Amino acid sequence: MKPLANDTFLRALRREPTDHTPVWLMRQAGRYLPEYNATRKRAGSFLNLCKSPEMACEVTLQPLERYPLDAAILFSDILTVPDAMGLGLYFAEGEGPKFERTVRDEAAVARLAVPDPGAELRYVTDAVRTIRRALDGRVPLIGFSGSPWTLACYMVEGGGSSDFRQIKTLLYKRPDLLERILAVNAQAVAAYLNAQIEAGAQAVMIFDSWGGALADGAFQRFSLAWTRKVVEQLVRERDEPVLGADGRAAGSRKVPVPAIVFTKGGGLWLEQIADIGCDAVGVDWTVNLGQARARVGTRCAIQGNLDPMALMAEPEQVRAEARAVLDAFGTPGAGTGHVFNLGHGISQFTPPDNVSVLVDEVHRYSREQRRG
Ligand code: CP3
Repeated sequence: MKPLANDTFLRALRREPTDHTPVWLMRQAGRYLPEYNATRKRAGSFLNLCKSPEMACEVTLQPLERYPLDAAILFSDILTVPDAMGLGLYFAEGEGPKFERTVRDEAAVARLAVPDPGAELRYVTDAVRTIRRALDGRVPLIGFSGSPWTLACYMVEGGGSSDFRQIKTLLYKRPDLLERILAVNAQAVAAYLNAQIEAGAQAVMIFDSWGGALADGAFQRFSLAWTRKVVEQLVRERDEPVLGADGRAAGSRKVPVPAIVFTKGGGLWLEQIADIGCDAVGVDWTVNLGQARARVGTRCAIQGNLDPMALMAEPEQVRAEARAVLDAFGTPGAGTGHVFNLGHGISQFTPPDNVSVLVDEVHRYSREQRRG
């Protein structure tokens, strides 16, 4: 395995100096790319695509062929974990993810078990290994999982939800039962992320997409406390081969594996999120990055936060919006780090050329900022 040709993303997460601000995009492999749609069609379904390491590898690399992104993200889904728990994930056309079985009562909770990442989720670790080989050291590979709370939302609701009525009913009526689900999820997520790290993931990200749906107080108890338990259990280093002068493996060294926690709608709780021991907090577009930087201080790096819909504008406006995000953060200084990203996943209606413009402007303008 070659050493990394571009480690800017990992350096920013470690809050070390970089010559530009690294950029990648949530859902960078997805339906806005015609080549993704072609592979998905060949796969027959989104789930088949996730479950084939070769095709998952192919779509992971697609955005990197088009754009000089600074990181790759494993192509998979957060719902592979509850699927591996036997809940029967399926995608109804145009309706998003659904589960055949929900977890809402004592009996269903008692049936829950932590899946073995080496068995039920073997296709994911196989994909990680396949992608690392194909990347050949170009950029780092990010592994990911949903947070215990966000996974519980889908498990209890049986799919997406606009009001979270079922899980909040459980939360208020039977908090003990919800906490049993969260405890299983925390074990499952930690084992799953550690398996991805062992297979080659060079950073991991926890998506707490629905943390922001919780009341203050409930967020800390039902989301953050369980994400903290995951972060505490992560094996945050991996063995990387060291090459000798002849280009052959000459031993190995331990390298850190940073962890990013992204809570959509979590802007009010930034300091508390930064305190759970992660290396970076992801923020959505409601947050001012300069203020976020002041609040987080030197505890963590920050990832974000362009409104994905800014990519629907004309190229000049896309460039201006990218500069506004970089200006809001300011030039990274001692003990701080910024990874440019969107504030949530890229829209399937994004013109692909605007992504070129965005990545170019982040690279160009962040270099200019560093020159003063
Ligand atoms: O970022 C990447 O490129 C990696 C791939 C990735 C996907 N899902 C692929 C996907 C990642 C990191 C996810 C995470 C995910 N999945 C989250 C957390 C992030 C977030 O968006 O808040 C959530 C909540 C899910 C659950 C999920 N999967 C939903 C709600 C949907 C349907 C929404 C939609 O856009 O249709 C999915 C399907 C899904 N996951 C798609 C992709 C590319 C679209 C499926 C398709 O090809 O039809």
